[in-house]
Amino acid sequence: MSDFAGLERELTIAIAEAPDEAALETVRVSALGKKGRISELLKSLGSMTPEERRQNGPLINGLRDEVQAAINARKQALAGAALEARLAAERLDLTLPMRESAIARGRVHPISQVVDELTAIFADMGFSVAEGPDIETDWLNFTALNFPPGHPARDMHDTFFFPPDAKGERKVLRTHTSPVQIRTMQAQKPPIRVITPGRTYRCDSDQTHTPMFHQVEGLVIDRTSHLGHLKWILEEFCKAFFEVPSVKMRFRPSFFPFTEPSAEVDIQCSRKGGEIRFGEGEDWLEILGCGMVHPNVLKNCGLDPDEFQGFAWGMGIDRIAMLKYGMDDLRQFFEADVRWLTHYGFRPLDFPTLAGGLSS
Ligand code: DAH
Repeated sequence: MSDFAGLERELTIAIAEAPDEAALETVRVSALGKKGRISELLKSLGSMTPEERRQNGPLINGLRDEVQAAINARKQALAGAALEARLAAERLDLTLPMRESAIARGRVHPISQVVDELTAIFADMGFSVAEGPDIETDWLNFTALNFPPGHPARDMHDTFFFPPDAKGERKVLRTHTSPVQIRTMQAQKPPIRVITPGRTYRCDSDQTHTPMFHQVEGLVIDRTSHLGHLKWILEEFCKAFFEVPSVKMRFRPSFFPFTEPSAEVDIQCSRKGGEIRFGEGEDWLEILGCGMVHPNVLKNCGLDPDEFQGFAWGMGIDRIAMLKYGMDDLRQFFEADVRWLTHYGFRPLDFPTLAGGLSS
């Protein structure tokens, strides 16, 4: 007769000592698996005499039940211990400061914010957005805009020129957004009402000038638009943009080759202690140039100046951003300093709308 008691002792020890569920499973397979030792014993019952079977049957079945019960109990104990270990390892310290998600930490640059704000305002007045490339031909940047070749106004712009191509023509980094006026008048028939926010380039750098800066061009062409409309649009824009009931603006006669008459517009501000503040003080900051589109420019675009007329303006986006949000050095706009951006930037999901508020 087999040593059932010895086998039971042996298996009981192996079960008790199994360090984890994998080891316990190995013990189970060795005892109760298809070819396990207890399974083999159960199979051997078939070849026993009835007498032997009567005697051994209960013993072997009892052994199987004992071992199965011991395995179940150990399994439960091991699972409990594993859970305890996991809970201890994954403990959270709820007193730690919260870490912001990337979307909450990220900021929209003030220039992008201001472009969104002014687009919302002009869209409300019926303007759509026109675009053009940063690299322009000399013709679109100057000649078509009535700058005669060799005219000193070309030098006023501190242009970045590309090396001449095979035909001796030099492309330029556009010095203003005005070439998009030409592109628009060539591409669509009046009535035209567009704005063009975009990058512009001039070889210039100090507290209020950077080699790359931003302008928004405006263009209105039809049969009847005049300077009165222009003035109204600019005043309404400034009130909406600066979110105030009235703004002090000053229209000064000026010269641009592509407008006649031309004006420059200043906005009232204070510049105490090097800081520019809007809505107070007796200083003025120039924010835009404007005028009635010159007949030569209309002709260059295939429009008859006796039939069509209109006005245009070019506004410095960086300037109005500085004024509205109290930043004093333009160069910081382009330094990619995260501390600056965290302070002056805007939350990504607060998209500016006229109904919901531009800047809040
Ligand atoms: N392009 C001019 C500049 O950059 C600004 C300007 C003046 C644009 C008068 C205009 C305009 O459209 O009519 O200095």
